[in-house]
Amino acid sequence: MKAMQLTGFGLDKLELEEIPQPEPGPGEVLVQFAAASLNPRDYQIITGQFTPNVEFPLVPLSDGGGTVVAAGEGVRRVAVGDRVTPLFFPRWISGEATSGQRSVSGGLEVPGVLRQFGVYDEQALARSAPHLTAAEAACFVCAGLTAWTALVTKSGISEGDTVLIQGTGGVALAALQFCNSLGAQTIIISSSDDKLARAQELGADHTINYQQTKDWGPLAHEISGHGVDAVIEIGGAGTLENSLAAIRHGGHVNIIGYMAGVEMGITVFPLIINNANLHGIGTGHRDDYEAMMAFVETHGIRPVIDRHYDFEEAGQGLADLAAGGHFGKLVVDIP
Ligand SMILES: NC(=O)c1ccc[n+]([C@@H]2O[C@H](COP(=O)([O-])OP(=O)(O)OC[C@H]3O[C@@H](n4cnc5c(N)ncnc54)[C@H](OP(=O)(O)O)[C@@H]3O)[C@@H](O)[C@H]2O)c1
Repeated sequence: MKAMQLTGFGLDKLELEEIPQPEPGPGEVLVQFAAASLNPRDYQIITGQFTPNVEFPLVPLSDGGGTVVAAGEGVRRVAVGDRVTPLFFPRWISGEATSGQRSVSGGLEVPGVLRQFGVYDEQALARSAPHLTAAEAACFVCAGLTAWTALVTKSGISEGDTVLIQGTGGVALAALQFCNSLGAQTIIISSSDDKLARAQELGADHTINYQQTKDWGPLAHEISGHGVDAVIEIGGAGTLENSLAAIRHGGHVNIIGYMAGVEMGITVFPLIINNANLHGIGTGHRDDYEAMMAFVETHGIRPVIDRHYDFEEAGQGLADLAAGGHFGKLVVDIP
């Protein structure tokens, strides 16, 4: 079977290779992949920015969509023909994770999805909503689930709430689509007026250009009337101060990304004064993934895919992701 393997750090070390096709043992299934979606973490792993602890050769990318094509003895949770995605954390099923459950993730400690076939424990997969293509399903594994965990599990967002969403990437647009279906108001910030116009077409209620309006936090507070109920915090260190200025008393800041830095030099006062809830978000578990998929099916949600790349162009897709011109998700088709 064909696989893209990383033989050292760097996009130029991503090589198309022929490797043996694995076979499922008891309790395992064989998944044939049709698509993968790209995340900043994948780029960081490949270029050596995420961790030095990578065992080469590695099949990269955590998020894939495919079909079960063979099942080993005793498999019950899924069946041949089911359309599935592997979990981001294959051992994290429910609740807060033990260290062992969170120590293994796709495309790093275990092989990723940039290959034609993979063998998975039946527990490490979830079914995809029937209306989704494999590429669309792959967009929910990390980006979608992260937005869901933040909005629903951690912040309890419901009808009439207001959410501030940073950027127009994979996590942000998943959050926007979930908010639309939850009946929550949204304020989106972006560096690009063009992307903000597209976000408005997708249903964003208010938009702010964060390059032109440096004090977007107080402005979002004013727009919402009493402060926003939750923030999808994508910038990290460079945006937290504005996020804390945006929230209502008792509001939620979901710390997801670090596009604007990792070292947070803030004072404790805005946290105290706002009775702020700060949540670190680490993607999520299978129970939440399945709850999200049921919601996605009920509301007919399809993720925003900016561009598809051929299998051999995966490196170009990752370079484009890092360049940041995209709106929503970039995906790779797998032959
Ligand atoms: N903790 C987790 O579980 C988890 C899961 C998924 C992703 N992440 C992290 O979350 C971040 C976003 O992931 P993604 O998949 O959505 O990436 P993405 O699709 O590449 O989107 C990145 C977005 O970041 C926005 N951005 C950059 N600098 C910003 C700033 N100073 N203020 C506000 N927004 C800014 C950009 O907005 P514009 O282009 O519109 O300006 C862009 O849309 C990354 O840091 C990623 O590593 C974390």
